[in-house]
This record gives sequence, C-alpha cells and structure tokens, in this order.
Amino acid sequence: MSKKKTILVTGSNGLLGQKIIYALKDIQGVFCISTSRGENRMRIQEGYVYESLDISDETEVQRIIEKYKPDAVIHTAALTNVDACESRREEAKRLNVDAVAFLIAACKKYNTHLVHLSTDFVFDGEKGPYVESDIPRPLSYYAETKFQAENLLLESGLSSTIIRTIIIYGVVDDNSRSNVVLWAVNSLRDKKTITVINDQFRSPTLAEDLADACIHAALNQSQGIYHVSGRELMCILDIVKITADYFQLDSSYIKSVSSAELNQPARRPAVTGFIIEKAERQLDFRPHSFLDGLALVKKQLLLVAH
Ligand SMILES: NC(=O)c1ccc[n+]([C@@H]2O[C@H](COP(=O)([O-])OP(=O)(O)OC[C@H]3O[C@@H](n4cnc5c(N)ncnc54)[C@H](OP(=O)(O)O)[C@@H]3O)[C@@H](O)[C@H]2O)c1
Repeated sequence: MSKKKTILVTGSNGLLGQKIIYALKDIQGVFCISTSRGENRMRIQEGYVYESLDISDETEVQRIIEKYKPDAVIHTAALTNVDACESRREEAKRLNVDAVAFLIAACKKYNTHLVHLSTDFVFDGEKGPYVESDIPRPLSYYAETKFQAENLLLESGLSSTIIRTIIIYGVVDDNSRSNVVLWAVNSLRDKKTITVINDQFRSPTLAEDLADACIHAALNQSQGIYHVSGRELMCILDIVKITADYFQLDSSYIKSVSSAELNQPARRPAVTGFIIEKAERQLDFRPHSFLDGLALVKKQLLLVAH
C-alpha cells in the first residue's frame, strides 16, 4: 500500500482555505494539516489536524514544516484586501512576499512541493483574457507583492505550482469575510443600496472549483504557472445583477458607477479573465458555470440558515 500523502494548508480560515480543508479531509490516503492565524474557525473540526500558524513568523513556519515534513503545502494565506495593501505596505510585503520566502526555505529542506495562490491583478487589464505566458504589469501594491512572490518561487528551483485566480466567491463558515456574491445577496436582502463598477471585467471563480485545482496540483506536483477561473467573462455590474436575479432580489438597489467615479485607493485592471485550457488539460479543471455556482451557494446558504 502506498504511503499517506501529507498536505499542509495555510490560511485555512479564509474562503479558499476552508474549501480546501473540507475537500482534503475526505480524500483517502491524505493526511491533512490545516493552519491559520489564531483559533480554528471552521464549523467541522474533525478529520484533520489544526495548528495555529502565523505565516509572517519565520521561526514558526520552520517549526511547523519541520514537525510534519509535508509532501505539499498549499499556501492560501495573504493580505488580500487590495486597498489595505496600498496603505499598509510593510504588512503587505511581510505577508505576501517575505512569508513566501520563509515557506520556500522551509520546503526546500524537506523536498516539499509548494502550491502558491496568485492573482489576475498581476496584469494591467489592457488585453484580457490572459494566457500564462502573457507579461505581467502590476498596477497596485497588492499586485506588485503577489508578482514579487511569483518571481521568488520561479527563481527558487523549488518544485512548485503558481495558481493565478480571479474573484473567488462562495460561502464561508463563520461569516468572517465576504465576497462579491455574498455581499450582493446580503445587501440586497437588507434593501441597502450598493454601488457597483460597470467598467471592470472579471471571470468569477467558485471557491470549490479552485480548491479542486489546488489539490490536484498538490497531489500531482504540477510545475509552473496555471490560470484557474470560471469560464465566463463579465463586468462586475453584471455579476451582481445576475446574482440579484438568481436570488430574486430587487435590483433597483444596485447603483452603477465607473472606476473613475468610484476612485478606489488601489488601481485595478480593466479587463482580466483567463484562458484556462492549460488547467483544463493538466489539472483536470472543470469549472461550474456561474449559474451552477450560484445554485451551490444558494443551497449552502439555506443549510447555514437551518
Ligand atoms: N479573493 C479573491 O477574489 C482572490 C482573487 C485572486 C487571488 N486571490 C488569492 O487567493 C488566495 C486566497 O484568497 P481568499 O479569498 O481565500 O483569502 P481570504 O479569505 O482573505 O483568506 C486569507 C486567509 O489568510 C489568513 N491570514 C492572513 N494573515 C495571516 C498570517 N499572518 N498568518 C496566517 N494566516 C493569515 C487570514 O486570516 P484571518 O481570517 O484571521 O484574517 C485568512 O483566513 C490569496 O493568496 C489571494 O491573494 C484571491
């Protein structure tokens, strides 16, 4: 019988982290180590081991990797608030770049494969949808830190996968964070007016689909960069309008604005979107359509409510 594979996940309290743990814990032949900052906030706490791990603490990163010597690490933890990264640059660099260097150093010692999460924001948005070989040009500090981390990995010689993704949506256990779909549903249910951008185009990605791609990459030690997102490229306003229609909510509370009118602290690319053929071929990636993703979200929200 082949040896169990040990997979360690960082940022397991986050949206993607939670979905990866829920999928991993049910895979035969996998020993799953879930790590995040502070307490474990997931509803189900059986079927995996939890360790509190602050990825910006180099000694702790070394200690935990040494303790479990995992076959693969899936690194989802990051400072993901794009506007906060503009004003909290030191923290953004520590979490999004330095922590990756700590993980690379620790993984090298034990021949551990590293799956790293990156973003469509590495591109300038002038010619989406993008393929893996397109040249990045980050517009914001968040994007700059994520691009620096990609380069650290590519130059490290470590066995690694870089998975770039776009607007992740899904239901999180503890409501600690939101995403475009939950934000739209919750605000419109409360009859709050929401201001939504009408000139930025993205491909929304169901968290469960992305989790499957990350796990495939970890188990198969896939090498290099992969673009992993939903197939449909839509403006953010349409993402919100389709969500409102699907949940039968009153879309008159949606206020359309341009990027120039909204004037957010961090610059965002206009049109991203990915060509996902490489992930389909090599990671067996089969994303849900946006409507099927919304159906899953609706089902999970009903379960949480009961
Ligand atoms: N969300 C998107 O639309 C999107 C799009 C493109 C790329 N990505 C990338 O995909 C990855 C996952 O995104 P996500 O949406 O799942 O993010 P998320 O929900 O914000 O989760 C990130 C997790 O990292 C944890 N974390 C933050 N600082 C930490 C630290 N010092 N030590 C340990 N854990 C720490 C957070 O902990 P707390 O919960 O305690 O704060 C959080 O649980 C990220 O690398 C992100 O850059 C995301």
